[in-house]
Amino acid sequence: APELPTGAEVPQALNMGMPGAPISVTDLQATHSTAPEKHFTLTAEAASLALDHGAPVQAWTFNGSAPGPTLRVRQGDMVVVTLINHLSFGVTIHWHGVSVPNADDGVAGVTQNAVKPGQSYTYRFLAKDAGTYWYHSHQFSYTETTGGLYGMLIVDPASPQVHDDVDSSVTLHDWNGANNQTLLAINTTTGTVKTNARAGQWVRLRVLNSSSDQHTVTLLGAPFMVAALDGHDVNAPQWLNQTPLPIGAAQRYDLRFQMPRTGAVTLVTSANNRQYQSAPAVVLGQGTVPGKLPAVSTHWFNLDTYGQPAPDPITTKSHFDVNYGITLNNHMGDSLGRMGMVYTLNGKVFPQTGMIMLKEGQLVKMHLDNQSDLIHPIHLHGHVFTVLTHNGHALTGSPIHLDTINIQPHDSYDIAFLANNPGIWMLHCHNLLHANWGMDMMVMYD
Ligand code: C2O
Ligand code: CU
Repeated sequence: APELPTGAEVPQALNMGMPGAPISVTDLQATHSTAPEKHFTLTAEAASLALDHGAPVQAWTFNGSAPGPTLRVRQGDMVVVTLINHLSFGVTIHWHGVSVPNADDGVAGVTQNAVKPGQSYTYRFLAKDAGTYWYHSHQFSYTETTGGLYGMLIVDPASPQVHDDVDSSVTLHDWNGANNQTLLAINTTTGTVKTNARAGQWVRLRVLNSSSDQHTVTLLGAPFMVAALDGHDVNAPQWLNQTPLPIGAAQRYDLRFQMPRTGAVTLVTSANNRQYQSAPAVVLGQGTVPGKLPAVSTHWFNLDTYGQPAPDPITTKSHFDVNYGITLNNHMGDSLGRMGMVYTLNGKVFPQTGMIMLKEGQLVKMHLDNQSDLIHPIHLHGHVFTVLTHNGHALTGSPIHLDTINIQPHDSYDIAFLANNPGIWMLHCHNLLHANWGMDMMVMYD
Protein backbone atom coordinates (compact mmCIF):
# COMPACT_ATOMS: atom_id res chain seq x y z
CA ALA A 1 0.00 0.00 0.00
CA PRO A 2 1.11 3.60 -0.45
CA GLU A 3 2.85 4.97 2.59
CA LEU A 4 0.57 6.20 5.27
CA PRO A 5 0.44 9.92 5.49
CA THR A 6 2.06 11.35 8.57
CA GLY A 7 0.68 14.17 10.62
CA ALA A 8 3.72 16.26 9.87
CA GLU A 9 2.70 16.49 6.24
CA VAL A 10 -0.43 18.48 6.84
CA PRO A 11 -0.84 21.88 8.33
CA GLN A 12 -1.36 21.39 12.04
CA ALA A 13 -4.69 23.13 12.19
CA LEU A 14 -6.14 20.92 9.49
CA ASN A 15 -4.89 17.83 11.16
CA MET A 16 -5.80 18.60 14.74
CA GLY A 17 -8.73 20.92 14.45
CA MET A 18 -8.70 24.69 14.52
CA PRO A 19 -8.18 26.26 17.91
CA GLY A 20 -11.54 26.92 19.51
CA ALA A 21 -14.81 25.30 18.59
CA PRO A 22 -15.60 24.97 14.90
CA ILE A 23 -18.45 27.30 13.99
CA SER A 24 -21.65 25.49 13.33
CA VAL A 25 -23.79 26.73 10.55
CA THR A 26 -27.36 25.55 10.73
CA ASP A 27 -28.07 23.50 7.69
CA LEU A 28 -31.51 24.87 6.84
CA GLN A 29 -31.36 23.44 3.36
CA ALA A 30 -30.92 19.96 4.64
CA THR A 31 -33.54 20.05 7.33
CA HIS A 32 -36.39 21.80 5.52
CA SER A 33 -36.05 20.62 1.97
CA THR A 34 -38.67 18.67 0.07
CA ALA A 35 -36.27 18.08 -2.84
CA PRO A 36 -36.09 14.51 -4.16
CA GLU A 37 -33.26 12.67 -2.42
CA LYS A 38 -30.52 10.75 -4.22
CA HIS A 39 -28.68 8.35 -1.95
CA PHE A 40 -25.17 7.02 -2.47
CA THR A 41 -22.71 5.08 -0.35
CA LEU A 42 -18.98 5.59 -0.78
CA THR A 43 -16.78 3.12 1.05
CA ALA A 44 -13.16 4.14 1.41
CA GLU A 45 -11.12 0.96 1.00
CA ALA A 46 -7.78 -0.29 -0.27
CA ALA A 47 -7.53 -1.96 -3.67
CA SER A 48 -4.90 -3.01 -6.15
CA LEU A 49 -5.51 -1.38 -9.52
CA ALA A 50 -4.29 -2.76 -12.81
CA LEU A 51 -3.38 0.24 -14.91
CA ASP A 52 -2.67 -1.17 -18.40
CA HIS A 53 1.05 -0.58 -18.54
CA GLY A 54 3.40 -0.67 -15.60
CA ALA A 55 3.09 -2.42 -12.30
CA PRO A 56 -0.17 -2.70 -10.40
CA VAL A 57 -0.84 0.34 -8.24
CA GLN A 58 -1.85 -0.06 -4.60
CA ALA A 59 -4.55 2.51 -4.18
CA TRP A 60 -7.00 3.91 -1.71
CA THR A 61 -10.37 3.94 -3.39
CA PHE A 62 -14.05 4.65 -3.04
CA ASN A 63 -15.92 1.39 -3.68
CA GLY A 64 -12.87 -0.41 -5.02
CA SER A 65 -12.10 1.82 -7.98
CA ALA A 66 -10.24 5.03 -8.69
CA PRO A 67 -11.78 7.20 -9.88
CA GLY A 68 -14.62 6.24 -7.54
CA PRO A 69 -18.14 5.92 -8.90
CA THR A 70 -19.41 8.88 -10.89
CA LEU A 71 -22.30 10.29 -8.89
CA ARG A 72 -25.01 11.56 -11.21
CA VAL A 73 -27.91 13.68 -9.99
CA ARG A 74 -30.36 16.20 -11.34
CA GLN A 75 -30.31 19.88 -10.52
CA GLY A 76 -32.65 20.38 -7.57
CA ASP A 77 -31.95 16.97 -6.03
CA MET A 78 -30.92 16.59 -2.41
CA VAL A 79 -27.69 14.59 -2.55
CA VAL A 80 -27.23 12.27 0.41
CA VAL A 81 -23.89 10.46 0.53
CA THR A 82 -22.82 8.12 3.28
CA LEU A 83 -19.08 7.76 3.62
CA ILE A 84 -17.93 4.54 5.28
CA ASN A 85 -14.26 4.38 6.18
CA HIS A 86 -12.59 0.98 5.89
CA LEU A 87 -9.10 2.47 5.70
CA SER A 88 -6.73 2.70 8.64
CA PHE A 89 -6.64 6.51 8.77
CA GLY A 90 -9.07 9.41 8.70
CA VAL A 91 -11.00 10.31 5.54
CA THR A 92 -13.49 13.03 4.57
CA ILE A 93 -15.21 14.03 1.35
CA HIS A 94 -14.94 17.53 -0.07
CA TRP A 95 -17.43 18.39 -2.85
CA HIS A 96 -15.13 20.37 -5.07
CA GLY A 97 -16.88 23.26 -6.80
CA VAL A 98 -20.28 22.71 -5.20
CA SER A 99 -21.68 25.50 -3.03
CA VAL A 100 -22.56 23.15 -0.19
CA PRO A 101 -23.62 24.29 3.28
CA ASN A 102 -20.44 24.81 5.27
CA ALA A 103 -21.03 21.82 7.54
CA ASP A 104 -20.93 19.52 4.48
CA ASP A 105 -17.72 20.91 2.99
CA GLY A 106 -15.66 17.97 4.20
CA VAL A 107 -12.59 19.78 5.49
CA ALA A 108 -11.16 17.77 8.35
CA GLY A 109 -10.38 19.91 11.37
CA VAL A 110 -12.44 22.81 10.07
CA THR A 111 -15.98 21.79 9.11
CA GLN A 112 -15.94 18.31 10.66
CA ASN A 113 -13.63 15.84 12.29
CA ALA A 114 -12.05 13.29 10.00
CA VAL A 115 -14.12 10.12 9.75
CA LYS A 116 -12.10 7.59 11.70
CA PRO A 117 -11.43 4.00 10.65
CA GLY A 118 -14.61 1.95 11.02
CA GLN A 119 -16.83 5.01 11.26
CA SER A 120 -19.24 6.62 8.85
CA TYR A 121 -20.59 10.07 8.10
CA THR A 122 -23.44 11.34 5.95
CA TYR A 123 -23.25 14.43 3.75
CA ARG A 124 -26.41 16.20 2.60
CA PHE A 125 -26.53 19.06 0.17
CA LEU A 126 -28.77 20.48 -2.48
CA ALA A 127 -27.50 20.24 -6.07
CA LYS A 128 -28.37 23.85 -6.84
CA ASP A 129 -26.21 24.32 -9.92
CA ALA A 130 -25.84 22.01 -12.89
CA GLY A 131 -22.35 21.10 -14.03
CA THR A 132 -19.29 18.91 -13.80
CA TYR A 133 -17.89 18.66 -10.27
CA TRP A 134 -15.78 16.21 -8.34
CA TYR A 135 -15.14 14.90 -4.88
CA HIS A 136 -12.02 13.95 -2.99
CA SER A 137 -10.82 13.30 0.51
CA HIS A 138 -9.75 16.41 2.44
CA GLN A 139 -7.97 15.03 5.46
CA PHE A 140 -4.47 14.33 4.16
CA SER A 141 -5.44 15.93 0.89
CA TYR A 142 -2.30 15.32 -1.11
CA THR A 143 -1.61 11.72 -0.23
CA GLU A 144 -5.25 10.70 -0.12
CA THR A 145 -6.34 12.32 -3.38
CA THR A 146 -3.22 11.25 -5.25
CA GLY A 147 -3.64 7.80 -3.72
CA GLY A 148 -7.06 7.39 -5.33
CA LEU A 149 -9.75 8.88 -3.07
CA TYR A 150 -11.55 10.90 -5.72
CA GLY A 151 -14.38 10.70 -8.25
CA MET A 152 -16.73 12.80 -10.34
CA LEU A 153 -20.09 14.36 -9.47
CA ILE A 154 -22.28 15.37 -12.39
CA VAL A 155 -25.37 17.50 -11.94
CA ASP A 156 -27.65 17.38 -14.98
CA PRO A 157 -29.52 20.61 -15.67
CA ALA A 158 -33.22 20.71 -14.75
CA SER A 159 -33.89 22.26 -18.16
CA PRO A 160 -31.05 21.49 -20.59
CA GLN A 161 -30.12 24.22 -23.07
CA VAL A 162 -28.51 21.83 -25.53
CA HIS A 163 -28.96 18.17 -26.33
CA ASP A 164 -26.09 15.71 -26.10
CA ASP A 165 -26.47 12.21 -27.56
CA VAL A 166 -23.41 10.95 -25.74
CA ASP A 167 -22.22 12.19 -22.36
CA SER A 168 -18.86 10.83 -21.25
CA SER A 169 -16.50 11.80 -18.51
CA VAL A 170 -12.82 11.19 -18.00
CA THR A 171 -10.32 11.95 -15.28
CA LEU A 172 -6.63 12.67 -15.80
CA HIS A 173 -4.79 11.33 -12.80
CA ASP A 174 -1.10 11.22 -11.97
CA TRP A 175 -0.27 8.09 -10.00
CA ASN A 176 2.89 7.55 -8.07
CA GLY A 177 4.18 4.44 -9.80
CA ALA A 178 7.17 2.27 -9.02
CA ASN A 179 10.47 4.13 -8.39
CA ASN A 180 8.53 7.32 -7.76
CA GLN A 181 7.74 7.58 -11.43
CA THR A 182 4.60 9.48 -12.33
CA LEU A 183 2.07 7.48 -14.33
CA LEU A 184 -0.69 9.41 -16.05
CA ALA A 185 -3.93 7.47 -16.31
CA ILE A 186 -7.20 8.41 -17.95
CA ASN A 187 -9.97 6.86 -15.89
CA THR A 188 -8.50 3.48 -14.97
CA THR A 189 -5.95 3.04 -17.72
CA THR A 190 -2.61 4.30 -18.97
CA GLY A 191 -3.73 2.96 -22.38
CA THR A 192 -6.83 3.77 -24.42
CA VAL A 193 -10.30 4.58 -23.10
CA LYS A 194 -12.92 3.61 -25.71
CA THR A 195 -16.29 5.32 -25.94
CA ASN A 196 -19.04 4.53 -28.42
CA ALA A 197 -20.31 7.43 -30.48
CA ARG A 198 -21.85 7.25 -33.95
CA ALA A 199 -21.51 9.56 -36.95
CA GLY A 200 -23.52 12.73 -36.51
CA GLN A 201 -24.05 12.36 -32.76
CA TRP A 202 -23.36 15.27 -30.42
CA VAL A 203 -20.90 14.39 -27.71
CA ARG A 204 -20.18 16.06 -24.40
CA LEU A 205 -16.84 14.98 -23.02
CA ARG A 206 -16.23 16.08 -19.45
CA VAL A 207 -12.56 16.21 -18.54
CA LEU A 208 -11.32 16.49 -14.96
CA ASN A 209 -7.71 16.92 -13.96
CA SER A 210 -7.50 15.26 -10.57
CA SER A 211 -3.71 15.56 -10.49
CA SER A 212 -1.66 18.22 -8.76
CA ASP A 213 0.08 19.30 -11.97
CA GLN A 214 -1.31 20.94 -15.06
CA HIS A 215 -1.98 18.78 -18.14
CA THR A 216 -2.42 19.80 -21.75
CA VAL A 217 -5.08 18.05 -23.82
CA THR A 218 -6.64 18.46 -27.24
CA LEU A 219 -9.17 16.73 -29.48
CA LEU A 220 -8.19 15.37 -32.87
CA GLY A 221 -10.66 14.40 -35.59
CA ALA A 222 -13.34 17.06 -35.22
CA PRO A 223 -13.69 20.73 -34.42
CA PHE A 224 -14.81 21.17 -30.83
CA MET A 225 -15.84 23.82 -28.36
CA VAL A 226 -15.29 24.40 -24.67
CA ALA A 227 -18.92 24.38 -23.55
CA ALA A 228 -18.24 24.81 -19.85
CA LEU A 229 -15.36 25.54 -17.47
CA ASP A 230 -15.49 24.15 -13.93
CA GLY A 231 -19.09 23.17 -14.75
CA HIS A 232 -20.23 26.68 -15.70
CA ASP A 233 -21.44 27.28 -19.25
CA VAL A 234 -19.41 29.52 -21.53
CA ASN A 235 -21.61 31.97 -23.44
CA ALA A 236 -21.59 31.33 -27.20
CA PRO A 237 -18.39 29.27 -27.30
CA GLN A 238 -16.41 29.33 -30.55
CA TRP A 239 -15.14 26.35 -32.51
CA LEU A 240 -11.60 25.25 -31.87
CA ASN A 241 -9.38 23.10 -34.02
CA GLN A 242 -6.69 20.98 -32.36
CA THR A 243 -6.28 23.87 -29.92
CA PRO A 244 -4.17 22.87 -26.89
CA LEU A 245 -6.15 23.21 -23.67
CA PRO A 246 -4.13 23.71 -20.49
CA ILE A 247 -6.13 22.09 -17.70
CA GLY A 248 -5.00 23.07 -14.24
CA ALA A 249 -5.16 20.84 -11.20
CA ALA A 250 -8.79 20.33 -10.09
CA GLN A 251 -10.23 22.10 -13.15
CA ARG A 252 -12.90 20.70 -15.45
CA TYR A 253 -13.52 21.33 -19.14
CA ASP A 254 -16.79 20.24 -20.82
CA LEU A 255 -15.95 19.73 -24.50
CA ARG A 256 -18.71 19.44 -27.14
CA PHE A 257 -18.44 18.30 -30.70
CA GLN A 258 -20.30 16.44 -33.41
CA MET A 259 -19.00 13.06 -34.50
CA PRO A 260 -17.70 13.23 -38.06
CA ARG A 261 -19.11 11.04 -40.86
CA THR A 262 -16.16 8.70 -40.67
CA GLY A 263 -13.33 8.03 -38.29
CA ALA A 264 -12.82 8.52 -34.60
CA VAL A 265 -12.30 11.55 -32.38
CA THR A 266 -9.35 11.25 -30.04
CA LEU A 267 -8.42 13.08 -26.87
CA VAL A 268 -4.65 13.18 -26.45
CA THR A 269 -2.44 14.62 -23.76
CA SER A 270 0.95 16.24 -23.75
CA ALA A 271 3.38 16.10 -20.88
CA ASN A 272 6.02 18.45 -22.20
CA ASN A 273 3.89 20.93 -24.20
CA ARG A 274 5.70 19.96 -27.40
CA GLN A 275 4.52 16.51 -28.31
CA TYR A 276 1.24 14.69 -27.86
CA GLN A 277 1.52 11.12 -26.62
CA SER A 278 -0.33 8.15 -28.04
CA ALA A 279 -1.21 6.98 -24.53
CA PRO A 280 -3.15 7.49 -22.42
CA ALA A 281 -5.86 8.61 -24.81
CA VAL A 282 -9.62 8.56 -25.28
CA VAL A 283 -11.05 7.27 -28.56
CA LEU A 284 -14.66 8.11 -29.35
CA GLY A 285 -16.21 6.12 -32.20
CA GLN A 286 -14.61 3.57 -34.49
CA GLY A 287 -10.86 3.70 -34.83
CA THR A 288 -7.62 3.94 -32.97
CA VAL A 289 -5.26 6.69 -31.85
CA PRO A 290 -3.68 8.19 -35.03
CA GLY A 291 -0.19 6.83 -35.69
CA LYS A 292 1.22 10.28 -36.32
CA LEU A 293 0.23 12.99 -33.87
CA PRO A 294 0.46 16.69 -34.66
CA ALA A 295 2.82 19.02 -32.83
CA VAL A 296 1.26 21.05 -30.02
CA SER A 297 0.09 24.17 -31.83
CA THR A 298 1.07 27.61 -30.63
CA HIS A 299 -2.56 28.75 -30.54
CA TRP A 300 -3.40 27.95 -26.96
CA PHE A 301 -6.87 28.13 -25.52
CA ASN A 302 -7.24 31.56 -24.00
CA LEU A 303 -10.07 32.17 -21.58
CA ASP A 304 -9.47 35.93 -21.76
CA THR A 305 -11.14 36.17 -25.16
CA TYR A 306 -13.18 32.97 -25.52
CA GLY A 307 -16.93 33.03 -26.17
CA GLN A 308 -19.16 36.08 -26.49
CA PRO A 309 -19.84 38.76 -23.87
CA ALA A 310 -23.11 38.39 -21.96
CA PRO A 311 -24.79 40.29 -19.13
CA ASP A 312 -23.29 39.20 -15.83
CA PRO A 313 -24.10 40.45 -12.35
CA ILE A 314 -20.44 40.76 -11.32
CA THR A 315 -18.34 41.73 -14.37
CA THR A 316 -20.27 44.98 -14.74
CA LYS A 317 -19.68 46.09 -11.12
CA SER A 318 -17.32 48.95 -10.47
CA HIS A 319 -17.67 48.98 -6.69
CA PHE A 320 -16.54 46.15 -4.44
CA ASP A 321 -17.10 46.03 -0.68
CA VAL A 322 -13.79 44.30 -0.06
CA ASN A 323 -10.56 44.42 -2.06
CA TYR A 324 -8.02 41.85 -1.03
CA GLY A 325 -4.61 41.21 -2.54
CA ILE A 326 -2.78 37.90 -2.31
CA THR A 327 0.73 37.18 -3.53
CA LEU A 328 1.79 33.62 -4.33
CA ASN A 329 5.38 32.57 -3.86
CA ASN A 330 7.76 29.94 -2.57
CA HIS A 331 10.86 30.06 -0.40
CA MET A 332 13.36 27.72 1.20
CA GLY A 333 12.39 27.34 4.84
CA ASP A 334 10.20 29.54 7.00
CA SER A 335 10.15 31.30 10.34
CA LEU A 336 8.79 28.17 12.06
CA GLY A 337 12.09 26.48 11.30
CA ARG A 338 10.94 24.33 8.41
CA MET A 339 13.92 23.50 6.23
CA GLY A 340 12.47 22.48 2.87
CA MET A 341 10.51 24.42 0.28
CA VAL A 342 7.48 26.24 1.60
CA TYR A 343 4.72 27.80 -0.48
CA THR A 344 3.37 31.10 0.68
CA LEU A 345 0.37 33.39 0.50
CA ASN A 346 1.38 36.98 1.21
CA GLY A 347 4.78 35.65 2.25
CA LYS A 348 3.30 33.47 5.00
CA VAL A 349 2.83 29.78 5.58
CA PHE A 350 -0.48 28.39 6.83
CA PRO A 351 -1.75 28.84 9.54
CA GLN A 352 0.11 32.16 9.80
CA THR A 353 -1.65 33.25 6.60
CA GLY A 354 -4.62 34.14 8.79
CA MET A 355 -8.27 34.60 7.94
CA ILE A 356 -10.08 36.89 5.57
CA MET A 357 -13.08 38.12 7.56
CA LEU A 358 -16.11 39.03 5.49
CA LYS A 359 -19.75 39.91 6.05
CA GLU A 360 -22.59 38.11 4.37
CA GLY A 361 -23.73 39.89 1.22
CA GLN A 362 -20.43 41.59 0.48
CA LEU A 363 -19.08 41.68 -3.03
CA VAL A 364 -15.44 40.67 -2.73
CA LYS A 365 -12.65 41.35 -5.18
CA MET A 366 -9.36 39.51 -4.92
CA HIS A 367 -6.13 40.23 -6.71
CA LEU A 368 -4.09 37.04 -7.09
CA ASP A 369 -0.50 37.74 -8.04
CA ASN A 370 1.77 34.82 -8.84
CA GLN A 371 5.29 36.07 -8.18
CA SER A 372 6.88 32.65 -8.54
CA ASP A 373 8.20 30.45 -11.34
CA LEU A 374 5.58 27.77 -10.65
CA ILE A 375 1.96 27.27 -11.68
CA HIS A 376 -0.51 27.75 -8.84
CA PRO A 377 -4.10 26.55 -9.30
CA ILE A 378 -5.94 28.53 -6.63
CA HIS A 379 -9.23 27.10 -5.33
CA LEU A 380 -11.88 28.78 -3.20
CA HIS A 381 -14.27 26.49 -1.34
CA GLY A 382 -18.03 27.04 -1.23
CA HIS A 383 -18.24 29.78 -3.87
CA VAL A 384 -18.10 30.32 -7.58
CA PHE A 385 -16.03 33.32 -8.62
CA THR A 386 -15.98 35.46 -11.74
CA VAL A 387 -12.72 36.26 -13.49
CA LEU A 388 -12.43 40.02 -14.01
CA THR A 389 -8.94 40.63 -15.35
CA HIS A 390 -5.81 38.80 -16.46
CA ASN A 391 -2.50 40.66 -16.13
CA GLY A 392 -4.49 43.86 -15.76
CA HIS A 393 -6.66 43.41 -18.85
CA ALA A 394 -10.41 42.91 -18.59
CA LEU A 395 -11.71 39.73 -20.19
CA THR A 396 -13.40 40.45 -23.51
CA GLY A 397 -15.19 37.16 -24.21
CA SER A 398 -17.78 35.23 -22.20
CA PRO A 399 -18.03 35.88 -18.48
CA ILE A 400 -15.89 33.12 -16.93
CA HIS A 401 -17.01 31.45 -13.71
CA LEU A 402 -14.64 29.12 -11.93
CA ASP A 403 -13.89 27.53 -8.60
CA THR A 404 -10.19 27.00 -9.42
CA ILE A 405 -8.01 29.41 -11.34
CA ASN A 406 -4.84 28.08 -12.90
CA ILE A 407 -2.27 30.86 -12.55
CA GLN A 408 0.81 30.64 -14.75
CA PRO A 409 4.18 31.86 -13.41
CA HIS A 410 4.27 35.65 -12.99
CA ASP A 411 0.65 36.08 -14.07
CA SER A 412 -2.02 37.85 -12.08
CA TYR A 413 -5.81 37.80 -12.02
CA ASP A 414 -8.57 39.79 -10.44
CA ILE A 415 -11.48 37.60 -9.41
CA ALA A 416 -14.70 38.52 -7.61
CA PHE A 417 -17.41 36.68 -5.74
CA LEU A 418 -20.50 37.35 -3.70
CA ALA A 419 -20.24 36.30 -0.06
CA ASN A 420 -23.50 34.37 -0.15
CA ASN A 421 -22.62 31.15 1.68
CA PRO A 422 -21.69 31.77 5.32
CA GLY A 423 -19.10 29.62 7.02
CA ILE A 424 -15.40 29.02 7.22
CA TRP A 425 -13.95 28.25 3.82
CA MET A 426 -10.52 27.32 2.58
CA LEU A 427 -8.69 29.20 -0.13
CA HIS A 428 -5.68 27.17 -1.23
CA CYS A 429 -3.45 26.02 -3.99
CA HIS A 430 -4.72 22.79 -5.59
CA ASN A 431 -1.24 21.64 -6.28
CA LEU A 432 -1.88 19.72 -3.08
CA LEU A 433 1.81 19.47 -2.31
CA HIS A 434 1.88 23.25 -2.22
CA ALA A 435 -1.18 23.19 0.03
CA ASN A 436 0.60 20.69 2.28
CA TRP A 437 3.54 23.05 2.57
CA GLY A 438 1.78 26.25 3.41
CA MET A 439 -0.35 27.59 0.58
CA ASP A 440 -3.68 27.80 2.42
CA MET A 441 -5.81 30.51 3.92
CA MET A 442 -9.27 30.80 5.47
CA VAL A 443 -12.20 32.97 4.48
CA MET A 444 -14.84 33.39 7.14
CA TYR A 445 -18.21 35.07 7.74
CA ASP A 446 -21.48 34.23 9.45
CU1 C2O B 1 -10.50 20.21 -4.25
CU2 C2O B 1 -9.71 22.17 -0.71
O1 C2O B 1 -10.08 21.16 -2.47
CU1 CU C 1 0.72 26.14 -5.85
